[in-house]
Amino acid sequence: MTSFKVRELRSTDTEALLAFETLNREWFESHIEARAPSFYSVQGVAEHIQAYLSDFALGAWHPFVIEDASGEIVGRANLKNIDSPKGCAEVGYRVGERACGQGLATLALKHLIQEAQARWALTQLVAYVYPKNVGSQKVLGRCGFVPEQAAPDGKPHSENRFILSLQA
Ligand SMILES: CC(C)(COP(=O)(O)OP(=O)(O)OC[C@H]1O[C@@H](n2cnc3c(N)ncnc32)[C@H](O)[C@@H]1OP(=O)(O)O)[C@@H](O)C(=O)NCCC(=O)NCCS
Repeated sequence: MTSFKVRELRSTDTEALLAFETLNREWFESHIEARAPSFYSVQGVAEHIQAYLSDFALGAWHPFVIEDASGEIVGRANLKNIDSPKGCAEVGYRVGERACGQGLATLALKHLIQEAQARWALTQLVAYVYPKNVGSQKVLGRCGFVPEQAAPDGKPHSENRFILSLQA
């Protein structure tokens, strides 16, 4: 594998993140919920980064990017809605279309799991995936997540919920 690294999102990432998100907009919109059109501007992405970094400072969010050897952003991964008292958080990730199939989502998810344990001392991670997103389900399974068939209230939901229990 060419060399890639997972690092924290920075306030100086606006231009690089806008380029990444714009290049892959259609690709992402075919797999996950579309972002608001106002996101796709320097101001929109700067505000997005600021919001993520504010939530990081509050201990509610831990945002990362995947960078290639030339410093280009080729993917993203986040620990979201971190609830330290309950010991849980949600994971999210996206990889640019041209960078897919090289294990980058797996690399990023493993990084999230490590941070969830070492930094946040979490005991459970959750992921939500559309049933047709086979690639993402493969990544989750490979990292130890198991599917939950029905919502806790017994009602069906459009996205499948996957759970990973971590050692305390
Ligand atoms: C899903 C996604 C994150 C996978 O990223 P990736 O870096 O290609 O993932 P990895 O290389 O770590 O692993 C993907 C695996 O799924 C497989 N895969 C991908 N699409 C597949 C498909 N349609 N059917 C079967 N297998 C598929 C790949 O072959 C690979 O398995 P392999 O390593 O055994 O060959 C990426 O496609 C993406 O960002 N999609 C858009 C956003 C998204 O869906 N995010 C996840 C929301 S839950």
